[in-house]
Amino acid sequence: MGADAQNSGATALTDEERRVLDLLATHTYEQVIEMFGGEWSKGALYRLALRAGARKTESRIRERDEQRRRRQQEALQALVDKTATADVLDFMDSLPDASIDLVVTSIPYNVGKRYGDAPASDCMRTVYFHGFVMQVLSEAARVLKAGGVLFLQVGSTRDWQDRLMPLDILLFDDIRHAGLTFQSRVIWTLPHGLTPKRRLAERYETVLVCSKGEVAKFNPSVARTPQKNPGKRSYKGKRKGELSGHPLGAWPTNVWDDIPSVRHNHPDRAHGAHPAQFPVALAKRAILLYTSPGDLVCDPFCGSGTSHVAAIETGRAFVGADLFYEDLRARRIANTVPDTLSILPGVSTDTLAVWQAEVRRVDCPAKQIDDVRQTEFLREAGLPCNASK
Ligand SMILES: C[S@@+](CC[C@H](N)C(=O)[O-])C[C@H]1O[C@@H](n2cnc3c(N)ncnc32)[C@H](O)[C@@H]1O
Repeated sequence: MGADAQNSGATALTDEERRVLDLLATHTYEQVIEMFGGEWSKGALYRLALRAGARKTESRIRERDEQRRRRQQEALQALVDKTATADVLDFMDSLPDASIDLVVTSIPYNVGKRYGDAPASDCMRTVYFHGFVMQVLSEAARVLKAGGVLFLQVGSTRDWQDRLMPLDILLFDDIRHAGLTFQSRVIWTLPHGLTPKRRLAERYETVLVCSKGEVAKFNPSVARTPQKNPGKRSYKGKRKGELSGHPLGAWPTNVWDDIPSVRHNHPDRAHGAHPAQFPVALAKRAILLYTSPGDLVCDPFCGSGTSHVAAIETGRAFVGADLFYEDLRARRIANTVPDTLSILPGVSTDTLAVWQAEVRRVDCPAKQIDDVRQTEFLREAGLPCNASK
């Protein structure tokens, strides 16, 4: 029996009860009853152990929990900035509770895609697939830190009668039952794609953004869009006459129409192809929006390593797993360097020009300088003193 167990009920325990509890840790109930000459019954011993939180099963559970926590911490240390070739549930089981800042991932849709060399990995019976994704969601909720975010790319699946079904609708309640709070539904549009015969062509993909409690980090400026009219001014109130738009762009919305999808000749495919790759730009925007540099990002279905590439480019740490594509990931990761040059997407050259003019107008009005100072400036600059005349 652990010291903790005894301490939890320690205030209410007599000396004899403590002695009995100590003995129960190493002896059977029968032996303890005999030692006390039959003064204690089995029921009394059980009630005492229950009151002190010291039943053998409880201490075994606590011990196993402790071992699990230690094992998961060690696994995480070994995994950071690497990807594992593993089944998603084994991988997630190896991560500690509350250790991840952002899970950014795209689940398999169960539509018969051929991943790696296992054609059946995307053809489960509908009910198994649903149960499988529910387990992944519940693990995601467990490993997220308080305030952490799940950014879940979802398309459409096929139900048991081969009918099309949007995954965000199927999974919405499961996400809430897993303890996550819905934040946004992001639509990112696709300029091209398949053209079906008797229904509208699919031209967007969906992402569900959910958090564990209130969102801890949100950096809107990395996803602002250029102001439509950067020169617009407030026409009334305290700020009358001032520029009304934000200099870094408009507040970001849930429609992202500037993310190019990964087609055959897309640069994201420079090191090899994956049948369902999402764009680095998508993962990168999610990472920039919901984490800070140095945070830990996880993609449990990391495929070709897109999220890992985005994490390296943005200076975040990464853990991930997939059943296949280890070589492709290794090639992409080896060819990725941190990106320190990208500008904020909402800052257009038009906006910049307007704000630069405004800053000059408001803060640095041109001042007349007298002849004496003008002569000093010219001399300091090594120019002839009559140069301005
Ligand atoms: C939609 S793709 C993700 C692609 C990834 N976002 C990218 O950009 O490359 C889904 C991935 O899940 C992987 N997968 C399917 N079942 C899995 C399982 N049980 N455990 C781990 N990975 C699995 C597939 O190999 C595939 O790469």
